[in-house]
This record gives sequence, C-alpha cells and structure tokens, in this order.
Amino acid sequence: MENLLPLFSYMRGYKKTYLIAAILMGLSVGFSLVNPLILQIAVDNSIGDLNVENPIVAGIMELLKIESLSGYLWFFAFLYVVFTALRGFLLYFVGKLSASASEGTVKNLRDRLFNHIQRLPFSYHKNANTGDLIQRATSDMETLKKFLALQLVETGKVALMVLFSVYVMWRLSPRMTISAVSLTPVIFLFAWFFFRKIQSGFEIADEAEAELSTVIQENLSGIRVVKAFGAEGAQIKVFGEKNSEYRDKSYKLLSDLAWYWSISDFLCFSQIGLVLVYGVYLNLSGEITLGVLVAFTSYVTMLVWPIRQMGNIIADFGKALVSVERIQMILLEDEEDYVETGLKPQIAGNVKFEDVAFSYSDDPKRKILDGINFDIKHGEVLAVLGKTGSGKSTLAHLLAGFYQPVKGKILIDGIDLRSIEKTWLRKSVRLVLQEPFLFSGTITENIDIYGKSEQEQIFKAAKTASIDKDIIRFEKGYETYVGEEGVTLSGGQRQRIAIARTIIDKASVLIFDDSLSALDAKTERQVRKELRAENEEASILIITHKISTAMEADKIIVMDGGRIVQQGKHDELAVADGLYKEIWDHQNTFNGNIMTGHRGN
Ligand SMILES: Nc1ncnc2c1ncn2[C@@H]1O[C@H](COP(=O)(O)OP(=O)(O)OP(=O)(O)O)[C@@H](O)[C@H]1O
Ligand SMILES: [Mg+2]
Repeated sequence: MENLLPLFSYMRGYKKTYLIAAILMGLSVGFSLVNPLILQIAVDNSIGDLNVENPIVAGIMELLKIESLSGYLWFFAFLYVVFTALRGFLLYFVGKLSASASEGTVKNLRDRLFNHIQRLPFSYHKNANTGDLIQRATSDMETLKKFLALQLVETGKVALMVLFSVYVMWRLSPRMTISAVSLTPVIFLFAWFFFRKIQSGFEIADEAEAELSTVIQENLSGIRVVKAFGAEGAQIKVFGEKNSEYRDKSYKLLSDLAWYWSISDFLCFSQIGLVLVYGVYLNLSGEITLGVLVAFTSYVTMLVWPIRQMGNIIADFGKALVSVERIQMILLEDEEDYVETGLKPQIAGNVKFEDVAFSYSDDPKRKILDGINFDIKHGEVLAVLGKTGSGKSTLAHLLAGFYQPVKGKILIDGIDLRSIEKTWLRKSVRLVLQEPFLFSGTITENIDIYGKSEQEQIFKAAKTASIDKDIIRFEKGYETYVGEEGVTLSGGQRQRIAIARTIIDKASVLIFDDSLSALDAKTERQVRKELRAENEEASILIITHKISTAMEADKIIVMDGGRIVQQGKHDELAVADGLYKEIWDHQNTFNGNIMTGHRGN
C-alpha cells in the first residue's frame, strides 16, 4: 500500500478534481438508491392502493394535492426517469473529472520519468535495457492510468453503494436485509481469493506479451542483419515459439477467468433468488408489502454485481501496484551529478591527465585505464592509437565527464574537471561518439540538435564536416528526412553529420572517437583539414586505428591494455621499436600487398 504513496505527489493540482468527482459520485449513488424506493411506493400505493404510511408518500400527496396515489403510476414512471437521468448526468461529470485527473496525474508522472531518464548518468544508459524502459514509460503508465481513471472511482462507488444500500434496506426491513446480504461475503471472498490466485496468471501472460514484443522490436531494429544473413527462417521460428507461448498463457488465463465468471454468476443469481423466495414468503405471511419485495430485488442486484466486479478491481489494483513499483524503481536510480553549483570557467582547452586510473563499477578490480599521463595544449591535435579494447573510448568518456577517474586528476585549464558544472563543461568539450546516432528527423534537425542555430551556421558546420556536397545532392537537401538511425545515409555520411553536429558551435575541446573510420582517405584528409582550419584554437583529440590519420597530429599516444605504452611524434615513433612501428609496418605492407596481391603476415 505504501507503494502507492509516491503516486499522491503526482496528483498535485488534481486532488480537488478527484474530490469533486468523489462528491458527485456520492450523489449519483444516492440517486440510484432512490429508484427502488420509487418502485416500492408505486407498487404499494399506486398499483396496490395500500396507502402505506410514509413521509415520502405524504409529501407526494400534498404536492399533487390528492387523497390517494391510485392511478398516478405515470407520476412514478416520470420520477424514475428523472432520477435515472440525473444519475446519468452526474456520472457523465464523474467520468469527465476523473479522466481529467487521471490523465493529468499520469502526464505529471510521465514528464517526471522522462526528465529523470534524461538525467540518469551515461553509465546507466550504457547498460540499460531500452525495451524495458519503453515498456515502463508506456504500458505501465497505461495500467496506472486505467486504474486511476476507472477502478479508483469504481472502488469508491462500490463502497458507497454497499454502505448506503444496506442502510436504506435496513430501514425497510431488517430481516430482508439479512437475506439480501447473506451470500455477498461469499461472493466477495470468492472474488478476492480467485483474483489473488490468478494474479500470477496475469503476470505470466504480461511477461509473455512483453517477451513477444521484445522479439518484434529486436527483429525490426536488426532486420538488416537478418536479411544480410538470410536468417529470416530462424527469426520466424523464434517468433513462432514466443507467439505460441503467449497464446497458451493467455488462453490459460482466459479459461481460468471463464470459471470465475460462471461460478460467480451462479452465486449472484443465487443471492437474487434467495431474496425473491424469502421475500415472497415474508409477503405471503404479511410481514412485508409487495412494494418492499420489488425494492429489495432492485437493491440486491445493485449490491451483488459490483461486489462480483470487485475481484477484477482488486486484480487491477495489484497490477497498478506492480506498475508503480516498476516506475519507482527507475525514479529511485541516482541522477547524474551535474555539479550544479560548480565552476563555470572560460575554457581555453588545455587538457591534462595526471596519473589517471579508471575501473568500471561492475568490476572495480579490473583497471581499464592506469597511469595515464598526457597533455594537450590548446590548439594542438593529439592522436590516440591503440589496440581494440585498450581503453581509448573510455578515456574519451572520462574527458567528457561521463565517468570519474578512480585515481588521479583530469585538469582543464588547470581546473579539476570534477569541480566544473557538467552542462557547462559539455558546451566546451564536445565528443563524437564511436557509434554515431541520428534521430528520426531532417538533416537540419540532426545537425542542429539544440534547435537554436542559424541556417548559416548549419551550412558552415556541414561544410567543415565535408558533408555539404552530399546533402545538396539529395532532392530535399537539408530537409531530407533521415529515417530511424539514418538508414537512408551511408556510414560515412552519418559519421560526417555527427561531426557537423559536434562542431556547430565553437567548442574548446573536440574529441573524435574513431569518427573518420568510414571515410575514404581523400575525404578523411579533407575533413581533417577543414576541422583544423575552422577550429584553430581548439584542442583536438582524435582516436583512430589508422597511422595515416595519426601521423599528422602534433602528438601521438599509443595505448595497450589501458596504459600509454608510447608517446611522441610520428617521425620518432615510426623508427622506435614498439607497438606504433609494428602497426605502421603492418599497415604499410598491408596496403602494399593489396596492390601486388600478396598476403601480409
Ligand atoms: N560500460 C562498461 N562496463 C564495463 N566494461 C566496459 C564498459 N565499456 C567498456 N568496457 C571494457 O573496457 C575496455 C576498454 O573499452 P574501450 O571501449 O575503452 O576500448 P577501445 O580502446 O575504445 O576499443 P575500440 O578500439 O574497439 O573502440 C574493454 O575491455 C571493454 O570491454
Ligand atoms: Mg572505442
């Protein structure tokens, strides 16, 4: 139950709406309870002409200025219609208000969740299951909304209905009341236990559904791989299995539910039957009037059907609890520390790594980086070369402030990176990720990610990234829509759009994580030349596997196993024994051999 507590904070601004809805609901319940009384008086006083002593009857007779209600059946029919209409009218507002409150509450929660997800650290997103996050932001929200919009109101209605109707019935006939409620505990308990038992069935079916949608989602995002490998058959088989599993579990659930609905139907009608039989007996023995009997048959149906429905509500309540819990689980994750009160220095771009070591938190003993010392003066280009897995991307991520070193310091213009406000830092330190991502949208939108730049600036960035000529060749130019992950673009085009995005406003430190790898040698050289010319003041860190890229840098560091094994300029490194020379020789002979058709060794 305390799991629902966080929910109340999102109801902010809607509590009043809920309260008004509750009051109107109470009134509508009141109106529903009047109708059986109208029936009773109609039967006893208008049809039966019993002239039962009753303040309501007296009031009506005075109103109509008559001595007997006999023959005034039309009046009761009219009253019945009026009250039913009033009730409908109220229910309309209850529905409207509770919909507005639940939509609003869930919107608040959705906003909060999205905000939070944006602010979760890089490390969280690197390991997070996207499908699962989407499920929580959508399907869990829906469950919750349904509960807030319908079930919460329904629960209130049932509670009021039971309370009020028992009171009114008691006033009419205590003995009949006892008979009218005698089976309701059984119906309620049956609903309660059944839905508790079946809860796991709901969960199992939900999970099977989630698994099925994951298969579809994965398949669709990886469909190009599937096609390339001709793996359609295998995928269809996996899907078929999950699909059958979902069918079986859903079927099991629905057939269990069929039991419930049939047995509870039987119980409910038994309760109604009991009231009829006992009522007829009491009527024959003169203890109650026919009108009271009619009223009771009405009341008992008002009681049993909602109580039977309670089981469903309890089940949905359980589901809503699970949803809130799942959403809370994300909300309780620590947000990234943006160092919001940190420094906002003018950053020129002098970078210094001082004895930096780093481990990922999943394996703190394993040093991904160790003893890293180097510096880049502003205006310099540093190339980072090294074996795959040697820690180059990790180093770039540290410089962008995604992770903190476990030992040592990273200084920017002599200031410890940790003390600089994060959003400020990222305006000055820009990183092109190793896997460039394009959003679904136009090329303009992809380059101008903040949506603030002038057209001119966008053109200029595209030119610097040497993608401008490619873009104007598209029919729609900069307004070309790049589909999900930019499938309409080539790998090299995507890399250059990502570069254009990074350099659109002048940053002091630019990091390119293997961002030129998909370009041919000529285009690559051109991009590098433009980049250098346009960002003379910036310090540039280029991670690369190609010596041809590294050789033109002011400085080169060579990494192996998380350590810098060599440092210097191309001319020195090319002749010194070590990893650099090895790679250099290899790439030289490799290129040579491609030309002559010999194999390298
Ligand atoms: N989020 C992470 N959690 C745990 N280990 C990680 C994580 N990211 C990377 N690693 C590990 O850290 C090591 C260095 O990875 P990194 O991505 O920095 O290498 P890299 O030099 O950029 O390689 P490549 O040239 O292939 O891009 C690898 O062994 C990798 O398995
Ligand atoms: Mg990498």
